Amino acid sequence: MRPRDLSDHVEYRAGRGIEEVARELGRDPEEFVKLASNENMFGPSPAAVDAVEASADEVHHYPTADHQDLTAAIAERWGVADEQVWLANGGDGALDYLSRAALEPGDAVLVPAPGFAYYGMSARFHHGEVAEYDVTGDDGFTLTADAVLDAYDGERIVHLTSPHNPSGARFALDAIERIAEETREETLVVVDEAYGEFADAPSAVGLVEGRDDADASHATSHAPRDDVAVLRTFSKAYGLAGLRLGYAIVPESWAEAYARVNTPFAASVVACRAGLAALDDDEHVEQTVEMARWSRTYMAEHVDAPTYESHANFLLVEVGDASAVAEALQERGVIVRDCSSFGLPECVRITCGTEAETERAVRELNEVLA
Ligand SMILES: Cc1ncc(COP(=O)(O)O)c(C=O)c1O
Repeated sequence: MRPRDLSDHVEYRAGRGIEEVARELGRDPEEFVKLASNENMFGPSPAAVDAVEASADEVHHYPTADHQDLTAAIAERWGVADEQVWLANGGDGALDYLSRAALEPGDAVLVPAPGFAYYGMSARFHHGEVAEYDVTGDDGFTLTADAVLDAYDGERIVHLTSPHNPSGARFALDAIERIAEETREETLVVVDEAYGEFADAPSAVGLVEGRDDADASHATSHAPRDDVAVLRTFSKAYGLAGLRLGYAIVPESWAEAYARVNTPFAASVVACRAGLAALDDDEHVEQTVEMARWSRTYMAEHVDAPTYESHANFLLVEVGDASAVAEALQERGVIVRDCSSFGLPECVRITCGTEAETERAVRELNEVLA
C-alpha cells in the first residue's frame, strides 16, 4: 500500500530559520539575523500580540463568530461583499481553495518561472497540470502581458505575482486587465499580492467584479471582471506568518463556491482575532512599509553587486555563486535566501530588515563579495 504517484510533485523549500541554522553550526541563535523568508522586521503588531494572549482561554470553541468578524472587516476594507472574501490558512490555503474551485482533473495552470513554487504544487495536489511562462533577468524581470500571453495555451488558471517573488517586479494594472481580456472566458487570472502593501500601486481588487466603488478607496476606472481573483496575506506586512492567515478576494459570481470547497474553520480563533487586531493597526503596517522601502533602497545603493528594482520587502542581488555566498553570509550570522531553488543559481534574495539588520547585511555581503 503506497501513496499515489507523486513523482511529478516537488517539495516546498522554505527559507532557513535561525534555530535550525544555529543548531547545525553549533552556535548561539543570538548571533544570527534571518533575512530569508520576507517576514516582518518589527514582528507582529502589538495589538495582535494582545489579541493572541487574550484568546488563549477560548480556544476550546470553534471559530464561527471570529471567522465572520474578520471576513466582514476585510470585506469592508476592500469594498466587497463578505462572501467574496475566502479566508484561509495562509495565502497558500487560499491558493488551494482556488485550485479546488476551478480545476477539473487534467486542467492546466500557467505559472511564472522563476516564481513562487506553491502555485504548481497546489495545482498538482488537485490533479492539475502545470505550464510556465518565463520571467527573465535579461530584461530586469519586467512583467509584461506579452510574456504571459505568448505562453498562454488555454490554461484554466493564470497565476500572476505582483510584486513578484523573487524579483520584486510588479505588473501594471493595465497589463493584468489585458491578460484577463485576452485569455478565454473560462480562465481565472489569480493575482498574488502577498507583497501588495509594499508596492506603491493600486491593487488588482480594483478589477474584481462585485466591488463597491462608492466607498472603496481603491476604486478604479477599470471595468469589473468575473475572471480576476486577488490573493492577500497577513504573513508579510502584518507580521503574522506564524499564525497562517490569508485570503482571496473573488468575483461575486465565485462567492458561493467557498462553502463547497473550504476546510471547515479555515482559520483558527487565535488567527482570526490577531488578524482583526492587526487590520486595525495601521501604524504598524505603515512603519513596516516605510522601513522596507528604506531598506531596499539602502541595499540597492550600497551593495557592491547588481540588484533588481523591487516593490516588495526584499531585494534580489546577483552575486555570482549564490550558494557559496549564502553559506559565507550564514557563517557571518546573516541568513539570506539562496535562489538556486528558484532556478537562479547566481542570485540571493535578502529580506528588508531593520536599519541595523540592513546595514549589517550589506556590510557582510560586501566583505564576502570582496
Ligand atoms: C508570492 C507569495 N505568495 C504567497 C505566499 C504565501 O504566504 P502565506 O501562505 O504565508 O500567506 C508567499 C510566501 O512567501 C509568497 O512569497
